[in-house]
Amino acid sequence: MYKSILILSLFFAGKIAAQQQALYKETYRPQYHFSPSKNWMNDPNGLVFKNGTYHLFFQHNPFGNVWGHMSWGHAISKDLIHWTELPLALAEENGIMIFSGSAVLDKANTSHFSNSKDKQPLVAIYTAHTDTLQAQSLAFSNDDGLTWKKFEGNPVLDLNKKDFRDPNVFWYQAKRQWVMAVSQPLEHQISFYASNNLKQWKLLSNFGPSGDLSGVWECPDLMQVPIEGQPGKTKWVLFTSQNSTMQYFVGEFDGTNFLVDKANSTIHKQDYGTDYYAAVTYHNTTDKQPISIGWVNNWEYANTIPTAPWKSAMSLPRKLSVKKIGHDWVLVQQPVLALENLRLIKENISNTTVSKELILAQKGNSFEMELNMIPSKNAIGGIKLAVGNGHYFEIGYDAAREIIFIDRAKTNQSFNAKYASINRKEASLKTKQGKIKLHIYFDESIIEIYTADGTVVFTAQVFPGKSETGLEFYSNGSAIQFENIHYWKMKSSWF
Ligand code: FRU
Repeated sequence: MYKSILILSLFFAGKIAAQQQALYKETYRPQYHFSPSKNWMNDPNGLVFKNGTYHLFFQHNPFGNVWGHMSWGHAISKDLIHWTELPLALAEENGIMIFSGSAVLDKANTSHFSNSKDKQPLVAIYTAHTDTLQAQSLAFSNDDGLTWKKFEGNPVLDLNKKDFRDPNVFWYQAKRQWVMAVSQPLEHQISFYASNNLKQWKLLSNFGPSGDLSGVWECPDLMQVPIEGQPGKTKWVLFTSQNSTMQYFVGEFDGTNFLVDKANSTIHKQDYGTDYYAAVTYHNTTDKQPISIGWVNNWEYANTIPTAPWKSAMSLPRKLSVKKIGHDWVLVQQPVLALENLRLIKENISNTTVSKELILAQKGNSFEMELNMIPSKNAIGGIKLAVGNGHYFEIGYDAAREIIFIDRAKTNQSFNAKYASINRKEASLKTKQGKIKLHIYFDESIIEIYTADGTVVFTAQVFPGKSETGLEFYSNGSAIQFENIHYWKMKSSWF
């Protein structure tokens, strides 16, 4: 039976792979960020690692290229960069949509969903959504996520509320039990529950309101994150998503309460860009360092971006650690190393000083670039990407204000007024030994920028015209130096 399911699933995966050949060449299609072959996608769901395979489930509309009929799509990868899309994992049924949630590997079969000693079930914990009720439900798989059954005892956690969603479960070794972080969106609270079998849940505590209350809270994730440079030492980090941005809290979890370190009183953001939301992590990686993936889009205009037959991609997977800057704990994010395997031949760009603009020989909107900028006190300057027809995307540093920013005001944005109104994003940033170090990934319609050693990140979507492929350094004041420049065109992960 299992064999025939496997063959059938590989047949479908093969079919999707064949479609990918034709599909993954469209305008704006990211070549090294995951996107579904067809149709709408939002949040990453059920990030779980089993037997060398990373599973990525995602909010998906199997019937169309806008939000609706929410179900869980499914893709797998060995390196988090090359993905194979598999058939739909969890489908909307009887008017109940499958909203966001997590998946765990139930090693000890605490749920009794496996009836064979040598099979460890994967268990999905998701929000069963109707117009009047959100409650938490289970589904399980005994064939490594190829096929799923919804639990007959669903829902397993029901407060009879309209808004109560996005359960994120992990194994808490110290008390040998499962812990769930789940959102009470309207209250700006994350509730923590515990369970021995994933089926019965007991309230532990509530966290919040705190920090950014600009939108309802969604998609929590509580995880243990290594402290940079202190092997074996960790802090606990809580993610929430609200209103198209995210925030994180750093503190301690004692098995009952999550307590934020007092020093952290300002709002901390995983990403300062326009398009990063609902990020959650792989908790059970082999080296115990969580890896996050976020949705690269923005609810303000997500349904209207000019891509077809798919909509939305996932961010690059980011390895997480924390470090202390002054009295403050901050999150450090670095894209996974496997990305380096996609680099084509390194192209040399010489050190240079620019007081107006320098058009580089490099053209094309799929590359990775590292460089240092030595800003000048009286200048705003930086890099322009996707340059052409008077259009460009700007990454700039304003030395007088000690601000790094992105600005897409000069890009093609005719498709949506809301998109056009969200152009500029900033973050405070001081130079380090007089320099700003930038690590930029451009992937057709996605730009990710890592700076300040991974403590400041921007993710943004951009939709340049066909001939808008240029690259420039610029300064609007006195001379800015650009040095230590590394540039690689990138191979596609799909072909
Ligand atoms: C976040 C979210 C979740 C919800 C899902 C529905 O983007 O609103 O709270 O479960 O999307 O698709």
